[in-house]
Amino acid sequence: MIHTLPKLPFAYDALEPHLDARTVEIHYGKHHQAYVDNLNKALSAYPELQAWTLEQLILRSSEVPEKIRTAVRNNAGQHLNHSLYWQYLSPRGGNPSSALLAGITRAFGSLASFQAQFTQTALAHFGSGWAWLVVHHGALEVLSTPNQENPLVLGAQPILVCDVWEHAYYLKYQNRRADYLAAWWKVVDWNRVAEAFSAVGDAPGASRRKRDE
Ligand SMILES: [Fe+2]
Repeated sequence: MIHTLPKLPFAYDALEPHLDARTVEIHYGKHHQAYVDNLNKALSAYPELQAWTLEQLILRSSEVPEKIRTAVRNNAGQHLNHSLYWQYLSPRGGNPSSALLAGITRAFGSLASFQAQFTQTALAHFGSGWAWLVVHHGALEVLSTPNQENPLVLGAQPILVCDVWEHAYYLKYQNRRADYLAAWWKVVDWNRVAEAFSAVGDAPGASRRKRDE
């Protein structure tokens, strides 16, 4: 097996009552696992592609043989997005760091405005997809992507993500995506978001942009 399911950074029931254990168990153990399995299956006859990272498989999709291109794009995208989704969840998420809060305030006016905009974007997204906080051209932005798409293909660096596929919430919240989003905010790991924000800020491209400003 080339690609593997990353270890969940918490127990299935750790996010109760906001995200329930049964949903987390099925989402991680069945949905996410299936994306990993299907990606490995698609790559099984292509040893040269087995060394590629998920990011390479997504960003260099045109170089992937047409026969497996759709399967690789869909399953690599979903594997990467879910791996990110779990990373930004925690029963003890803390609060945004001062640097992150300053960035959010600069981009959105306040933390509350940011959260309102993110929630609205997630609610308004039609069908399956993802809501993201990204760093794009050196600034924070909120956006949504359809299906398996990751903001990397848009040239943006994700630092927080919410899964708005129905499988992420239907068992507990049925059609009530707004209730799921309200619960999801309660288990966002702000420490991880701050780390990701800081890592993007420290990237060579970002510091060059800062210097040029
Ligand atoms: Fe999902």
